[in-house]
Amino acid sequence: MYSIRRICCIGAGYVGGPTMAMIANKCPHIDVKVVDINADRIAQWNSDSLPVYEPGLLEIVQANRHRNLHFTTAIDESIRGADMIFIAVNTPTKTFGNGAGKAANLEFIEKCARQIGAVSTGHKIVVEKSTLPVRTAEAVKSILSHSTGNATFDILSNPEFLAEGTAIEDLLNPDRILIGGESPAAVQSLVDVYANWVPRERLLTTNLWSSELSKLTANAFLAQRVSSINAISALCEATGADVDEVAAAIGTDSRIGPKFLKASVGFGGSCFQKDILNLVYLCEHFGLPEVAAYWEQVVRLNDYQKRRFVQRMVRTMFNTVSDKRIAVWGFAFKKDTNDTRESAAIYVCRDLLEERAKLSIYDPRVSETQIRTELAQAMLGPDGRLSPASERLLAENIEVATSAPAAAHNSHAIALLTEWDEFRHLDFLAVFHHMHKPAFLFDGRNLLKSQQLHKLGFRYHAIGSN
Ligand code: NAD
Ligand code: UGA
Repeated sequence: MYSIRRICCIGAGYVGGPTMAMIANKCPHIDVKVVDINADRIAQWNSDSLPVYEPGLLEIVQANRHRNLHFTTAIDESIRGADMIFIAVNTPTKTFGNGAGKAANLEFIEKCARQIGAVSTGHKIVVEKSTLPVRTAEAVKSILSHSTGNATFDILSNPEFLAEGTAIEDLLNPDRILIGGESPAAVQSLVDVYANWVPRERLLTTNLWSSELSKLTANAFLAQRVSSINAISALCEATGADVDEVAAAIGTDSRIGPKFLKASVGFGGSCFQKDILNLVYLCEHFGLPEVAAYWEQVVRLNDYQKRRFVQRMVRTMFNTVSDKRIAVWGFAFKKDTNDTRESAAIYVCRDLLEERAKLSIYDPRVSETQIRTELAQAMLGPDGRLSPASERLLAENIEVATSAPAAAHNSHAIALLTEWDEFRHLDFLAVFHHMHKPAFLFDGRNLLKSQQLHKLGFRYHAIGSN
C-alpha cells in the first residue's frame, strides 16, 4: 500500500489545471503541484485571469491556490518530491513522418518519461492522464526502466473523461473513473485518492490496455453519434423532415438515449478528430483496414457537414457571398469554453473567406489574436506558407466585433456557429433593422426559434430542416 501525500502533474492545460484543482479541493491532505514548461501559462494560473475558461474553475483555484495547490515551472523539483506523478501533456496528431495526419505525436509524453526517469529517486507511481494509443504504457515503462537513478516505478492509466464547458461538474460528479494498472497496490492508491469524493461503485479498475483503449473508444462512440445525426440532417433538408424532431423521437428509445443527438455545423475540439484518427491508425497498424475505414468515415462526415454548411449559405444567398458582410456569432468549439482547437468556426470562416466574403466575428470568450492566429493557420498552403491572396483576405476581410449585434450591423447574413446562451436573448428586431435585406440567419446550432425569426422578417435556416 502506498500513501499518497504529494502529487505532481506535468502539463497545466485544459485537463491538468482543472483535474488537479479538483483533487486539491477534495483532498486537503495532499499537496498538489502542477508544472509546465510554458512559463506564461503558469503565470496565468497564478493570476485571476486563468488560461482556461470554465464555469466555476476560478473559484476552486482561488480557494486552494497557495494552500495545497501550486502552479510552478520547477519541474524537476516537483517530480522529485512527489509520490505520484500525472502526465497530462498534449498528444496532438502527428504532422510529420510515419503516421502523419493520423498517429498521435508522443514526443511530449516520451520527454516527460525521460525527465521523470532522470530526476526520480525512491518509488514513484506514474499516471497517464493524457489520451494515448493502446500500449503506450509499455513504452513509458521501458523508458523508466532505463532511468539513471535507482528509482522504481508503477505505471497506471487513468484517462480523463471531462468535457470542456462542464469540466467542474464532470470532475465533481463523474459517471466513472477508470484506472488501469498491473500493480494492485498502485491501483488502490489512486482509487483511494478519488474515493475522497467519488462513490466506490464508480471507480472502475481494468488492465492497462483496456483502460487506454476505452478512452479512445468512448470519444469515437460520442463523435459517431454526432456524425450520425448530422448525416441524417442532410437527409432531413432534402425531404422536409426536421432533424430535431427526429432526434427527439429516436432519443426516447432507452436503448438509444437522448444525449449527443444535437445536429450541428460539425463537431470540433482538440480530441474527437485526433482520437478517432489515432484509432484509425491503430487499426491500420494492426492490419484491420475495414475497421479503420469504418471509424474514418465519422471524421469524413464531419468535414462534409462543415463544407455543406458554407455551400448552403452561398447557394441561399443567390450563389455569391463575394464582398458581402457576414456576421459570425461564436468562434469557440462549443459554449462555455475559450478553446478554439478544431472549432467548426475555423473551417466555415476559411471557406467563406475563400468565397471573398467579409467577416465580422464575435465570441464572448475568444480574443482577436486567437481568432486571427487560427484563421491564418487554417489558410496555410501545402508548402506551409500563406499565399499573398490569403494574406490579403486575412488582413482586409476580417473584423472582430465586441458584441453580437455589433457584428451583425450592416451585414447581409449571420452565421451562428457556437451555442452561447447570450445569443438566445438578443433584441432580434433591432438586429434585423440594422442588416441588409433580405436578412439571412444561418443557425449552425439550431439554437434559435425559427417561427419568431421568420415573423420578424429574417430568412432563417437551421440545420436539418427547411
Ligand atoms: P493542453 O495543450 O491544454 O495542455 C498541455 C500542456 O502540457 C501545455 O500547457 C504544454 O505546455 C504542457 N507540456 C507539454 N510538454 C511538456 C513537458 N515536457 N513538460 C511540462 N509541460 C509540458 O492539452 P489538454 O487539452 O489539457 O490535453 C492534455 C491531454 O488530455 C491530451 O492527451 C488530451 O487528449 C487529453 N484530454 C483532453 C481533454 C480536454 O477536454 N481538453 C479531455 C480529456 C482528455
Ligand atoms: C469530449 C468528450 O465529451 C469528453 O468525454 C472527453 O473527455 C473529451 O472530448 C476529450 O477527450 O477531450 P469535449 O470535446 O470537451 O469533450 O466536448 P463535447 O461536449 O464532447 O463536444 C464536442 C463537440 O461535439 C463540440 O463541438 C460540440 O458542439 C459537438 N456536439 C456535441 C454536437 O455537435 N452535438 C452534440 O449532440 C454533442
